[in-house]
Amino acid sequence: MSQIKKVIIPVGGFGTRFLPATKAQPKEMLPIVDKPVIQYLVEEAVASGIQEIIFVTGKGKRAIEDHFDYAGELESFLESRGKTELAKEIRKLSSLAHFAFVRQREPKGAGDALLQAKHLIGQEPVAVLYGDDIVDGGPACLKQLLEVYEKYKSPVLALERVPKKEVYKYGVIRGKKIAEKTYDVLDIIEKPSVQDAPSNLISIGKYIITPEIFDYLLHVKPQPNQELYLTDAFSAHLKKGGKIYGYEFEGVRYDCGDKLGFLKAVVHFGLKHPDVGTAFKSHLRRIKL
Ligand code: G1P
Repeated sequence: MSQIKKVIIPVGGFGTRFLPATKAQPKEMLPIVDKPVIQYLVEEAVASGIQEIIFVTGKGKRAIEDHFDYAGELESFLESRGKTELAKEIRKLSSLAHFAFVRQREPKGAGDALLQAKHLIGQEPVAVLYGDDIVDGGPACLKQLLEVYEKYKSPVLALERVPKKEVYKYGVIRGKKIAEKTYDVLDIIEKPSVQDAPSNLISIGKYIITPEIFDYLLHVKPQPNQELYLTDAFSAHLKKGGKIYGYEFEGVRYDCGDKLGFLKAVVHFGLKHPDVGTAFKSHLRRIKL
């Protein structure tokens, strides 16, 4: 069993890339077929052995609380209509894990969101999942990171190789390969230009962080857009001689915070879906592009 018991999931952002769909609902509740994006992340945490989930929410995010709440009336209604399986599935949602909610007053970036949950963490290491990145295939992505943490007892980043022209969207690392898929991270740069990027190995939104990272976060300067970047805390930690490891995870990532990534996720999970997968595949084959 891992000593990491909690995961923080920041969900305070406005989701401007999906407006107007996200004007009156959280982007994390957009459905990939019939399951909201946020549920994939909670299931990833649970599949990794984590039972305590802390959401850092903001204005307009109550639907996330409701989604993981007990819904007795809906269950009885489904039972009364003979939809027993669906009723069971709905019940399971509220007992998946223990949920806690803290509020971020303003959307000031994921670094600030993490600080809002600091008092619930104390001196423990903790997992962090950003609300956009879903990984499918292979063991749960977070579980893979936990195994690396158990070995090195230092912060761990989930790494992916992307085409060089895309690095400007991510935190990009300079690292030394020390074992199969494992890197000693020597530097990390947030959203560099393609020319300045130290590699094409980017960090996706899944991390294990240790208490020192929170201490560095308290001292990082906000970016010009007022956001606090977790990457800046990682840089400070590395500059002081701290260690960070990166792991090229197994599986395929879908960036559901981006329109194209979201559509790819819908197609991927739609094709795998037990109710509609086969019919969806025939439909896609018939489409003339
Ligand atoms: C954030 C992080 C970045 C990381 C990315 C992964 O950026 O700051 O380091 O590579 O998530 O999705 P954002 O997508 O919030 O701009």
